[in-house]
Amino acid sequence: MGLIATVGRKDKKATPSLFELMREDDHAVKRKILITGGAGFIGSHVVRLFCRNYPDYRIYNLDKLTYAGNLENLADVAAECPNYRFIHGDICDIELMRQLFAGYAIDGVIHLAAESHVDRSIRDPFAFAQTNVLGTLSLLQAAREYWSSDTGGGMAGKLFYHISTDEVYGALQDPESFFVETSPYDPQSPYSASKASSDHFVRAFGNTYGLPVVISNCSNNYGPNQFPEKLIPLFINNIRNNKPLPVYGTGENVRDWLYVVDHARAIDTIFHRGKVGETYNIGGFNEWRNIDLIRVVIRTTDRLLGRPEGASEGLITYVPDRAGHDKRYAIDPTKLHEELGWSPSLQFEEGIERTIRWYLENQAWLDHITSGAYERYYAEMYGGRE
Ligand code: NAD
Ligand code: TYD
Repeated sequence: MGLIATVGRKDKKATPSLFELMREDDHAVKRKILITGGAGFIGSHVVRLFCRNYPDYRIYNLDKLTYAGNLENLADVAAECPNYRFIHGDICDIELMRQLFAGYAIDGVIHLAAESHVDRSIRDPFAFAQTNVLGTLSLLQAAREYWSSDTGGGMAGKLFYHISTDEVYGALQDPESFFVETSPYDPQSPYSASKASSDHFVRAFGNTYGLPVVISNCSNNYGPNQFPEKLIPLFINNIRNNKPLPVYGTGENVRDWLYVVDHARAIDTIFHRGKVGETYNIGGFNEWRNIDLIRVVIRTTDRLLGRPEGASEGLITYVPDRAGHDKRYAIDPTKLHEELGWSPSLQFEEGIERTIRWYLENQAWLDHITSGAYERYYAEMYGGRE
């Protein structure tokens, strides 16, 4: 059936069968939540937060373990949290999704699994349509079938929470404006087009079948465990290795950055207190031009490495721009703040220092994922540019 269920705890048998897992005593389990993409960057922080904060929930982390999925991200959770379960599988496999919903009596979904990198979407848009659109559709369908079945118990008390991005709104032209929940969708990259499409399917299932859905659209995340294809970890790794820092275009594009644990806290808030059918924008009013952010990353990394100030400035290398590069993203999170009381907990200066420290102190983590396939990716993506 294409499923390997692995209980992460070291004191248990390494790989009990699906049926052994299903026979587990469910008496004290208050909720059974399926988190997809939990081995990825944001997902791993969400899994950790839920496993630790809600010991009476059972957390099923379903992940295909693509290049971006890494169980090392959750080694501490697997060792410490008895309520954590890992399932290796593909959200596009609808039969598997049906078995999971029925077999584990899932009552909540937090859906993060996706292809997530814009540059890869420019190379291979089909992979993004497959996972982000069809994969989301297969999860929606499995949730709908199970929750409306005799054994599923109806839609009351259930929730399908879809994690999306601010990129669905397109690029802001007016420097004074922000994305709000009612901003029109205007995706500009294959990645954002696939995420926009998945958002539409989620709302369509809410409207057409009464599926209890909620969506959040977050700005750029940064923090530990991000795959070093994205700007911040890629640049930290390159500074560490004295490699060129490829700045796309003029470096004037603007992004709005949020520490990943604050995103996970927002997801917790929305999962528990968000209103069904609503959308919430998540961001920290923290806009940076790429080139200014890059200078902060260089200064901080040099300082933490004990290098003289400005030592790595010379690594900055302007390279041809990304095709269709969105000029500016900026989120207005007022609704989330006023209705649900969420605010970011970290100032950027503290978050970026904590992040850089983490990458420098976890070189083994970086070294494991930057060999082999990563080197090929890097050569393909940047070889012709630098
Ligand atoms: P990521 O690429 O680090 O992780 C994605 C995870 O999904 C990986 O563990 C991967 O193995 C898994 N996955 C991919 N295809 C799968 C499939 N077919 N079946 C099961 N698992 C699969 O991504 P991320 O940065 O952690 O983003 C997580 C989610 O948050 C995505 O939906 C993304 O669109 C959204 N998001 C990301 C950001 C950001 O700045 N990174 C901002 C806003 C929203
Ligand atoms: P990225 O981390 O890929 O996130 P997104 O494209 O989803 O916002 O890129 C952040 C910004 O940094 C974006 O404007 C593109 C730019 N960038 C570079 O200049 N060089 C790079 O090597 C990368 C990966 C990104």
